[in-house]
Amino acid sequence: MKIAVFGLGYVGIISAACLAEQGYKVIGVEVNDIKINEVNNGRSPIVEPYVNEIVSKVVKSGNLEATDDFESAVKNSNIALICVGTPSSETGEVDLSFIFKTAQQIADALRKKENFESEYVILIRSTSMPGTVDKFAEVVQSISGKKRKKDFDVVSNPEFLREGNAVNDFYNPPFTLLGCECERSEKIVRQIYSFLEAPFIVTSVKTAEMLKYVNNTFHGLKVGFANEIARICRKKGIDSREVMELFLLDKKLNISEYYLRPGFAFGGSCLPKDVRALSYESKKNGLSLPIIENIMNSNSLHIEWAFDIILKEKVTNIGVMGITFKNGTDDLRESPAVVLVEKLLGKGKNVLVYDENVRLSKLVGSNREYIEREIKHISEILIEDQEKFLDSVDLVVITNRENSYRELLNSYQKKELIIVDLVNIFPEKRSSKNYKGIGW
Ligand SMILES: NC(=O)c1ccc[n+]([C@@H]2O[C@H](COP(=O)([O-])OP(=O)(O)OC[C@H]3O[C@@H](n4cnc5c(N)ncnc54)[C@H](O)[C@@H]3O)[C@@H](O)[C@H]2O)c1
Repeated sequence: MKIAVFGLGYVGIISAACLAEQGYKVIGVEVNDIKINEVNNGRSPIVEPYVNEIVSKVVKSGNLEATDDFESAVKNSNIALICVGTPSSETGEVDLSFIFKTAQQIADALRKKENFESEYVILIRSTSMPGTVDKFAEVVQSISGKKRKKDFDVVSNPEFLREGNAVNDFYNPPFTLLGCECERSEKIVRQIYSFLEAPFIVTSVKTAEMLKYVNNTFHGLKVGFANEIARICRKKGIDSREVMELFLLDKKLNISEYYLRPGFAFGGSCLPKDVRALSYESKKNGLSLPIIENIMNSNSLHIEWAFDIILKEKVTNIGVMGITFKNGTDDLRESPAVVLVEKLLGKGKNVLVYDENVRLSKLVGSNREYIEREIKHISEILIEDQEKFLDSVDLVVITNRENSYRELLNSYQKKELIIVDLVNIFPEKRSSKNYKGIGW
């Protein structure tokens, strides 16, 4: 297998050097003469542990060379890795001009290329917005006259390395991710990375393209969050390092998968009140903590989002399954489902509510007060008879993951209901036309 690597920056030189170290013949394509000369003289164009040694070794062995001649690089390879930069433009939008320049170059070269050993596979390693791979393929197809998934393919293969630890990360990624919708290309890419022990995961092209943005945004969010905690702690004379060390000890809820699966908004008697309190406290102390201050706003927008999904169905008789803030409780305080019901009633919808854990006759104290205050005629819309509930509505919104709701809806055969699933309780129904998810 012969590999052309476009862009010999941080990502490109690591891939080029390490793949050459694994025995592949690699041609690095660069537009910067200084970088080309450095590589051809056996030196790394970037400062990064171990890279100089590897580049020196693989250039000497003849496995790596650098050039600006993209045409001969494509002619003499059957795989291309695109590692060019995708910087921010002035507006913050990702600048994909370097990516599309390589699309044109590869297309020009492919137009003239004959005697394909197999299809030419182009791996986009640069971080680029979902849709870029397909546009890249369109450009190549229209200029080269070759056909995607027959003569060539373009796939997404995002890079997860961190500068400073890049060689180690290249050889030990969390997993190799391939966004690819063609078995032939998948087989070729699997072969390239066969020396890696990490799991090899294949997904759709757009999912793979999206992941790198999700990762990096989350990393930014973590740093920003920890630093906002530091600012409020310092104002209050508390050591934020100690607070965060203790925070990190909780591997059940804090550092875990918990709370990271998309679904409905949060609520309950603690989270909203405590987020609000910390936000207020920061303002009182003259601080601006935009991440913390915007959490409640983001949560409200998510309720609006669910509301809009329901309204789009243009249905009058709506059933809400689950009025508590989560399953397994009768706690209604600050439940996002209560807000949703209020909003639907406000739009003139006929709303009925069924909740496994809520019987109005048994509600006492703050729960009863809360629901009677928030939803005026709650006794008229909260219904205990499951059959009557489903018979009376045309659309059901599921707001919490009570398993009995699944069973109930699965056994109901009288008519086809539209299901708006806010908690992913029905993953198997996703392709059905009467099913709407909140973020899938
Ligand atoms: N740097 C990282 O740690 C890292 C990690 C993961 C992913 N990424 C992503 O990888 C991509 C590359 O990042 P980088 O840090 O290596 O960028 P970089 O700016 O260091 O390198 C890009 C290289 O591409 C070259 N180039 C531009 N147009 C070219 C063309 N038409 N043909 C050949 N070469 C061309 C440039 O001269 C430059 O040397 C970006 O999308 C980035 O977001 C970077």
